[in-house]
Amino acid sequence: MKKNKIFIACDTVNISKIKKIIKETKNSKLSVGYKFGLEFLNSKNGRNFLSKLKNEIIFADLKLHDIPNTCVSAIKAITDLKINYLTIHISSGIHALKAAKKVSDKIKLIGVTILTSLDNKGLKEIGFNMDIKKLVLHQARLASKAKLDAVVCSAKEVKLVKKVFKKEIITPGIRMGKKITEDQKRVLTPKQAYDNGSDWLVIGRPITKGNVKKNIQKLVDHLNQ
Ligand code: C5P
Repeated sequence: MKKNKIFIACDTVNISKIKKIIKETKNSKLSVGYKFGLEFLNSKNGRNFLSKLKNEIIFADLKLHDIPNTCVSAIKAITDLKINYLTIHISSGIHALKAAKKVSDKIKLIGVTILTSLDNKGLKEIGFNMDIKKLVLHQARLASKAKLDAVVCSAKEVKLVKKVFKKEIITPGIRMGKKITEDQKRVLTPKQAYDNGSDWLVIGRPITKGNVKKNIQKLVDHLNQ
């Protein structure tokens, strides 16, 4: 049977905690990759740790959002690390996406749509009047036009995105129950996300907070229900 794929969001600067997360999330039922974001990549020891991490699927969540030249330079500057996936905000614009894709080489370039921490109200507050679903669909079309390798969206939009984007779909904003969503707004459960067609889930706090081993087992049990 095909294993469910998840990226664990390693959102800490604590190297021993990261080592523990990597060790305790290994599970024969899951295919696990590790996502390192702004917190870790900006930390003193983070980059050094990543340069030595071998035989893991590594996702650098840089979330580039800049002019084409700066996006290109940032990608070139990270190629010494053996990373598999890298993010860029689709709202950087089609020229930045195409330029980034040109230099990303073997790294899979992921286009980030509207953050899962935003709902329609939050989107209006920053001046976007389009409905989230329409905007995500529009951005997925741009990702397809720029030949990106993957798209990040909420699991709620996967079916929609699949209509226009045919490669990998990665979904954060995953919560086992509806009660604790923290700063996330557009959330679904792991099962709902896979049922909708997500290729990869991104899960951070629901796995890394508390007992990591127990949390992983809880996830596996939930998927087997
Ligand atoms: O702890 P939690 O499961 O909410 O973590 C989600 C992770 O996914 C965080 O590292 C966050 O930066 C990232 N992410 C997200 N929403 C996006 C893109 C990335 O939550 N749209």
